[in-house]
Amino acid sequence: MTTVGVIGLGYVGLPLAVAFAQEGCEVIGVDLEPRKIEAIGAGEPYIEDVSAEELLAVSGRIEATTRYERLIDTEAILICVPTPLTRNREPDLGPLIGATRALAQVLRADQLVVLESTSFPGTTREYVAPLLEESGLLAGRDFHLAFSPERVDPGRTDFTIRNTPKVLGGLTDGCAERAEALYRIVCDRLIRVSSPEAAELTKLLENIFRSVNIALVNELAMLTDRMGIDIWEVIDAAATKPYGFMRFDPGPGMGGHCMPVDPFYLSWRAREFDMATEFIELAGKVNQQMPYHCVAKAQRALNEQGLSVKGARVAVVGVSYKAGVGDVRESPALKIIALLRDLGAEVLYHDPHVPGLGEFGLRSTPLEEAVVGADLALIVTAHPGVDHELVTRRARVVVDLRGVTRSAPATNVVRL
Ligand SMILES: NC(=O)c1ccc[n+]([C@@H]2O[C@H](COP(=O)([O-])OP(=O)(O)OC[C@H]3O[C@@H](n4cnc5c(N)ncnc54)[C@H](O)[C@@H]3O)[C@@H](O)[C@H]2O)c1
Repeated sequence: MTTVGVIGLGYVGLPLAVAFAQEGCEVIGVDLEPRKIEAIGAGEPYIEDVSAEELLAVSGRIEATTRYERLIDTEAILICVPTPLTRNREPDLGPLIGATRALAQVLRADQLVVLESTSFPGTTREYVAPLLEESGLLAGRDFHLAFSPERVDPGRTDFTIRNTPKVLGGLTDGCAERAEALYRIVCDRLIRVSSPEAAELTKLLENIFRSVNIALVNELAMLTDRMGIDIWEVIDAAATKPYGFMRFDPGPGMGGHCMPVDPFYLSWRAREFDMATEFIELAGKVNQQMPYHCVAKAQRALNEQGLSVKGARVAVVGVSYKAGVGDVRESPALKIIALLRDLGAEVLYHDPHVPGLGEFGLRSTPLEEAVVGADLALIVTAHPGVDHELVTRRARVVVDLRGVTRSAPATNVVRL
């Protein structure tokens, strides 16, 4: 039986810990937050991708703790801590360095360490390896080290850890083989690349690809707004091409832990190589513009009614950064709410996944109550199960930033 350690029990680490436990592994999960340790111990998951039943079913095989010493008896350790940006939008390796230093204190010979956190090429070799070697053990010789990016798409059920191919790159061939043997337990298809750097860049390419393409359709959405063309109609038509086109939809901007953050890890690293990654910067700029464009659209919609934003009651429908999840990190809805409030609007919201928005002192209002009393309903995130038809029927004016009202055209709806 394999014993696996997971450092960082968040959106990435907890599902991974559960996946290994489901396959019969003993899992030691380490996190700094006692709240999460207690929740796991009580069988109460705090993210959508792990149900209470799943957690309870493996509770005998997952030990959650704040103590790194508990990792001593594990065969492999997966690092899944956050990799955010600093206030100046530069990589903040603080959590990663903290976790790696703490791991170095307890590392022992023959263990496998895999970094799963997204980061720039060179992180595993130039940052993680030397810190772990402070243990006195040599990476690639005394312990194995690899990088394997997590590809989880929170809220998604058709692609899971099991059927999403997993990319990995080892410091040595021996490291890669060891990592392959480990991931074969939970994943059907492994894609081995020649180095940790190739694996690190693979993950960034995937995210940058999305960011750039979303920015492209967002820019077109701003243009079609001026031209009086329906962007959704155009995308629907283009998507009928059987080759050479991949559909991306416009929206209010990018949120979550990955899209608004990861690409800048590469642009920062690129500067060391005298290279400006212009696509990344431009995509970031366009996507960051979107909340402003969306608020301007709301402002115009109110204006059509003879109303100003100041004093208007605006019901925001959906505030998490994507459909089906409750994660509000970097959510464009937060920016939109702040902008509307700055303009003097009274904002309320409905989101079945987000009971409260502490920073705004708001609680989720039942859908009908929220939209009936509002001057404007703003669909920012379209969760499955939310009755958008009711929003169209009951609200005075609707601004739909997700194209969910297309199937039932109505005169009181304005779309992105
Ligand atoms: N969320 C996603 O959809 C997603 C997808 C793919 C990759 N990633 C990447 O995976 C990494 C983790 O992301 P996440 O969304 O799971 O973050 P998260 O914030 O949900 O979870 C990270 C956890 O690490 C813990 N932590 C922080 N420092 C620690 C330390 N020194 N020791 C132990 N625990 C520590 C935190 O308390 C937290 O529980 C990031 O690099 C992210 O970019 C995330």
